[in-house]
Amino acid sequence: MQNPKKNLASLLRDHGVSSELQLLIESIVDATKEIARAVNQGALAGVLGSTQDENIQGETQKKLDVIANQIIKDALLSNEQVRALASEEEDGVIAGNNHGNYVVAFDPLDGSSNIDVNGQIGTIFTIYPARKDVASNSELQFQQQGTQQVCAGYVLYGASTLLVITTGGPTRCFTLDSISQQFLLTNSTLEIPQDTQEFSVNMANQRFWQPPFKRYVEELLEGEAGTRNKRFNMRWNASMVGDMHRVLVRGGIFMYPSDTRDAKQPAKLRLLYEANPIAMLVEHAGGKAFNEQQRILEIEPQALHQRVAVIMGSANEVDVCLKHLRH
Ligand code: AHG
Ligand code: MN
Ligand code: MN
Repeated sequence: MQNPKKNLASLLRDHGVSSELQLLIESIVDATKEIARAVNQGALAGVLGSTQDENIQGETQKKLDVIANQIIKDALLSNEQVRALASEEEDGVIAGNNHGNYVVAFDPLDGSSNIDVNGQIGTIFTIYPARKDVASNSELQFQQQGTQQVCAGYVLYGASTLLVITTGGPTRCFTLDSISQQFLLTNSTLEIPQDTQEFSVNMANQRFWQPPFKRYVEELLEGEAGTRNKRFNMRWNASMVGDMHRVLVRGGIFMYPSDTRDAKQPAKLRLLYEANPIAMLVEHAGGKAFNEQQRILEIEPQALHQRVAVIMGSANEVDVCLKHLRH
């Protein structure tokens, strides 16, 4: 007989996660189950399509961006451990309980362009210790390096609903059991292979890339005939969660470099609720996560919705890419 699979609560308890942090993680995860139900019902629940509004970053909000944001926000604001929250869909920091010990940032729905085509989408979240020395609603609550994260994770609403999470130990994967509605442990240590023959990048941006990055991708495309002497394959889901899940499971390199499309905004992905949590998951699975200069987790944040270039995944391939950028 198969061993019964561990649920999230018992695993967190066995690994010495404090009961306060455990309850906080569970309230986020419970909110994602509600989002999973809405995603699953799709058009039947009337959750597809766009709103008439834009978020602070000038992106049109999809109905599901707004619904997911509200579900997570409500869950966090009713948890007394939450001192503050920040979201891709909120202009500024939202204060919670002044005595809360944690602050939480999240991307309620990642991969929004996939919502209406039944593609991969996800929720990304990160938890930091609250700063006692600044007000609850201060942006400074979130101006902490990614190395300070006490928990990072994502939920992927795909063929199965998966939770990938680390609390400082291994990066683990849980699958949502549709019968018990519990996340059950299905991979206790995700390990990213050091080498890969698969890359993820939006090739449509090629003409806007910096020359050294362009050269690196050209070498990947040259395959066996080129300097790399190796054939590469390409995958692009237009959802960081979807692309990074593949990298965490079977290796790969995922890149969203800076480019010259918009002088005011050279990078696309956001440091606080996209790059940092995924970087923590990657490093705890043995991979590397850099921008074009340094380890993502060591960047000193300057602004809530700050954007960063991202190069992450299989360690040896990230090294090759960075070597090109440093020449
Ligand atoms: P979001 O849907 O939260 O705005 O994030 C989308 C991000 C990321 O998930 C994805 O990798 C990238 O944008 C897709 O960018 P392209 O539109 O260039 O494909
Ligand atoms: Mn996103
Ligand atoms: Mn989003």
